[in-house]
Amino acid sequence: MTTADALRIKGGEPVSGTVRVSGAKNSTLPILAASLMATEPCEITGVPNLRDVETMVELMGILGMRVSWDKKNRRMEVAPENPRHEAPYSLVKKMRASVLVLGPILARLGKAKVSMPGGCAIGVRPINLHLKALQQMGARIEVEGGYVLAECSRLKGTNIVFDKVTVTGTENVLMAAVLADGVTTIENSAREPEVTELCQVLRKMGAQIEGEGTPTITVKGVDELRGFSHHVMPDRIEAATLLMIGPITGGRIRVEGGNPGHLDAVLLKLREAGIEIEIYPDGAMEAWRGGDSILPVECSTWPYPGFPTDVQAQLMALLSLAKGTSMITENIFEDRFQHVAELSRMGANITVSDRKAVIQGVDHLTGAPVMASDLRASASLVLAALAAKGESIVSRVYHLDRGYEQLDKKLAALGVEIERIKQPVG
Ligand code: EPZ
Repeated sequence: MTTADALRIKGGEPVSGTVRVSGAKNSTLPILAASLMATEPCEITGVPNLRDVETMVELMGILGMRVSWDKKNRRMEVAPENPRHEAPYSLVKKMRASVLVLGPILARLGKAKVSMPGGCAIGVRPINLHLKALQQMGARIEVEGGYVLAECSRLKGTNIVFDKVTVTGTENVLMAAVLADGVTTIENSAREPEVTELCQVLRKMGAQIEGEGTPTITVKGVDELRGFSHHVMPDRIEAATLLMIGPITGGRIRVEGGNPGHLDAVLLKLREAGIEIEIYPDGAMEAWRGGDSILPVECSTWPYPGFPTDVQAQLMALLSLAKGTSMITENIFEDRFQHVAELSRMGANITVSDRKAVIQGVDHLTGAPVMASDLRASASLVLAALAAKGESIVSRVYHLDRGYEQLDKKLAALGVEIERIKQPVG
């Protein structure tokens, strides 16, 4: 019998205490991809122990890198051994971010064969903008048999203007540009902290980059990149999720090790919802309900520094308990409301029309068996389950394990009655 992990959570009690943020998944993945271009060993510390990182490590092995990962000390060493250029479907289908290897392999080896990622639970998620930009840099690109086949002698610096802000698109082009011939400017580039951190790493490798964190990044190509040592920044999406544990359950939570400077839009929205947030000089954040109720808000997701789409589902769980009607507009992904049906099974009153969700706050949620559809949806269901009266079973937690390091253990340490169980599937 095949089984899958699920979480049994007993909710309805205030959750208070201190919890620590892990290293950022969406930084670790591009940093690992960047190491494909190094001619020397690289050291990455603060690496979160996540399924997506494991998938990336597997992919690095297939691409001819020697990776040793000391999970206990969160330290990884990556060394080039026998560089190869093919990223197979079996891994890319597990994790879309595998496409981040396209730019680095192409720039380093002059050819790349990378499986096209398919759509996923939150939308179609094409990579047309990645491919168009690489073509503009002189790559010959064909899509054949589900694979992107890319070739070039040496990529050439040019002026790229993205039609739409794309995080991994910006990262892919950035990595390709650092080994290109001449200057590349990337306009309408993503300003996410993960992009900025990737630039810092690339600079440690010898890249010449200016303008990260602004809409225009300029890269002057170099001939070779050396190894680096880097400590991964804290995960801002995990920090935002953990911060909501206090207010959603009526407790008081202290989140340590995060970077409040990456959370301006989230903190602003939570404060608007009547959440008190205290920030300490060491970056620790504490959150609790300011008054008796959570207040309704309107919120739209945007690229950074706007409110992150990756926190939309968690905010919706919180607002489902607000006193009044809230509205959330999802501007980034066309199908990122799949948590709505599951939250409704717990008693939330939410209606969706196109990209807008109207959330009529309810007095309380009740525990129920619910099913996660993607990573952040899982996090929203866990938050709802913590607040809900009675027992919930959140199934398909493999989504959660992709991007939240040991969330069940962190919650148990906060005193939550939570248990990982096996459920039959099929
Ligand atoms: C990154 O995905 C993150 N993943 C996502 O995190 C995050 O939700 C997303 O950025 C938005 O912030 C990683 O960093 C590994 P995009 P990415 O390209 O880069 C459209 C999580 O839960 N688009 O910025 O794939 C696209 O369809 C995940 O950790 C094109 O049309 O997202 C979307 O509407 C999920 N053509 C918009 O742009 C393209 O070629 C933004 O997507 C590329 C993107």
